[in-house]
Amino acid sequence: MIDTVEPQPRAGMPPARFEPLAREIYALKKQLNAVILAHNYQVPEIQDIADFTGDSLGLAQQAAKTDADVIVFCGVHFMAETAKILNPNKIVVLPDKDAGCSLEESCPADKLAALQATNPNFWTIAYINCSAAVKALCDVIVTSGNAEKIVNAAPKDRDLLFVPDENLGQWVMEQTGRPMTLWKGNCYAHVEFRRDQILKLRQHFPAAKVVVHPESLREVRDLADAVCSTEKMITYCKNDPAKQFVIVTESGIIHRMQKECPGKEFLCAPSFDAFKLPTDGCRCSECKFMKMNTLEKVRDCMKNLAPRVELPAEIIRRARLPIERMLEISARPLANAG
Ligand code: 13P
Ligand code: SF4
Repeated sequence: MIDTVEPQPRAGMPPARFEPLAREIYALKKQLNAVILAHNYQVPEIQDIADFTGDSLGLAQQAAKTDADVIVFCGVHFMAETAKILNPNKIVVLPDKDAGCSLEESCPADKLAALQATNPNFWTIAYINCSAAVKALCDVIVTSGNAEKIVNAAPKDRDLLFVPDENLGQWVMEQTGRPMTLWKGNCYAHVEFRRDQILKLRQHFPAAKVVVHPESLREVRDLADAVCSTEKMITYCKNDPAKQFVIVTESGIIHRMQKECPGKEFLCAPSFDAFKLPTDGCRCSECKFMKMNTLEKVRDCMKNLAPRVELPAEIIRRARLPIERMLEISARPLANAG
């Protein structure tokens, strides 16, 4: 089994209409000694100009080792915060400061602190999709790419509290057999995927493999051939002999899949109209936050060095420990992970 999957360098030229902007961005990149990191859900033209495109784990690993002076983070706010926590002395900019996340919103630090106060034996595990203030209250951070490994390594004598994604938490409990108290947050986009949509797609495309992100509901995960993080989805589609895949996550991922798996077909659930199936009008394959970023905004944030992520020194100090613990456990060979 693939343990951690690091994104590969792949900066390139986007389609011709974006070329003038891309050239400006490359010039700014050189001038600033900047690195451009992009999440797999970003629009294709941003992925095309990024130095690294990957999942939350790969991006945190890249942020931890970069020697650039400026980090341009094309993703959502909590991801840019994570990069800042790992690089307090570097400038971290993001194209749109309002690119939030429904999971982050669901878990305010004061409410988490109040719950933690009810049980001194809690050991708090936070999905990386949370604010820096929440990270500062936690024992370890996980991403969807390493959650199972990290929960397996959690102290056996502690009561596990998992925040803020109840669906990812449920899936990790199923994989590890460790009971956990789950915070009731969710990804507003992934919980829109439904069992009947996937069943319809399975009916129309019986040879297709169904690949599901663990932020999805159990009724959907139960129909999957594979449940995994976005980076592991790409690896799965590369390695599996199937020629057709139903992809149950944000549609931005399809760009890399098409580029990196030539000759294979990707059906982004539940795009019924694209396959001439009856539509239910659902837009759940797009995250409105991830789609706030544009190439123009990438150029502007580099020109202005703003919006910039700034965090109190004390939050950085406390939030860094659980992130570093995550990176350390993630890097352990599987046999020593527990
Ligand atoms: P990964 O890319 O780490 O699987 O995360 C998915 C996601 O929803 C990020 O916000
Ligand atoms: Fe948050 Fe979901 Fe968007 Fe990821 S896809 S940033 S979890 S709202």
